[in-house]
Amino acid sequence: MIQTKRWNVQTNKMAISEAAALLEDGQTVAFPTETVYGLGADATNNTAVSKIFEAKGRPEDNPLIAHVATKEQLNSLVSSLSPIAEKLIDAFTPGPVTFVLPSNGTCAENVTAGLSTIGVRIPDHPVANKLLKECGIPIAAPSANVSGKPSPTTADHVWEDLNGKIAGLVDGGSTGVGVESTVIDCTQELPIILRPGGITKEQLEQVVGKVMLDPALANASEKPKAPGMKYRHYAPEVPMWLVAGSPDRMQEVINRERAQQNRVGVMASTATAQKLEADQIIPLGFELKEIAANLYDALREFKDGNIDLILCETFPETNIGEAVMNRLKKASSAHL
Ligand code: TXA
Ligand code: MG
Repeated sequence: MIQTKRWNVQTNKMAISEAAALLEDGQTVAFPTETVYGLGADATNNTAVSKIFEAKGRPEDNPLIAHVATKEQLNSLVSSLSPIAEKLIDAFTPGPVTFVLPSNGTCAENVTAGLSTIGVRIPDHPVANKLLKECGIPIAAPSANVSGKPSPTTADHVWEDLNGKIAGLVDGGSTGVGVESTVIDCTQELPIILRPGGITKEQLEQVVGKVMLDPALANASEKPKAPGMKYRHYAPEVPMWLVAGSPDRMQEVINRERAQQNRVGVMASTATAQKLEADQIIPLGFELKEIAANLYDALREFKDGNIDLILCETFPETNIGEAVMNRLKKASSAHL
């Protein structure tokens, strides 16, 4: 156990400078980004980065994203940028997108898990950006959860998972987007989305024309190009099933399971939730954007002991719905 220092950026003027000092000293610090909280360490320091893997219980073959404050700093980590990569970077940074680019070897080897490419992102969050500017080093940061659990969208989520395992936690309130960044491979002729996220395929295509999807996203028997996408993820404490179709169909499944003495929790859009009766119901919001923002908090709300089974509505796989459904499929064990 280590003592985890927690700062609130609203009330503590020293938060950023103290957090930056810990990062420069090779310690781990969690901080908010516009997507989810990240668990940071000095990306140029192998020993510091290994503390991230240890705290999260993360498999070592899963590379980390390097977070930087500026495009110049991004350039300092890569060996080249294709014209398409330049266009995408100019259009979407700072923002919820990670560019996979040819690495020039500046970052520690365990950041890239031995790959010749590196994922780099410039977040769009005032706390993350101040922190990155203050310490001036690239910060390796995966989501600040225990591996396998839903990603953290509040400081309390991080505390629940990592208190005693990390040196610091900067509390900057709830994150905005709620699902992680889009990971896009820009090392091939056509850009390939490896993980759908905060910037949608539709937005990317408006800037560069055709964008591919990693075939593994549609077909579970393909090997994903992003090592992290092969793991089961975002798992709630109790089993979750996805239920397609109308609210009436959902109510039928609820009734059937309750008749078997199962206590049933439901996650659905607010419009659907208002029509249902179950043991616990979490309305996620009316719009896909709200649903994305509330998703991980809802997954953490259902506790073993209160609920035996979660049933979740399915959503259209357009815009940010693509990222929402990608996470829900990974979190669930059946699709009815
Ligand atoms: O929004 C986000 O991206 C958050 C915040 C904290 O920035 N970070 C995040 O990191 O979600 P993580 O480690 O949970 O997910 C990173 C994903 C993994 O699926 C990993 O395999 C993939 O990006 N990745 C990282 N570097 C890669 C590379 N060089 N090639 C292919 N995939 C890579
Ligand atoms: Mg993660």
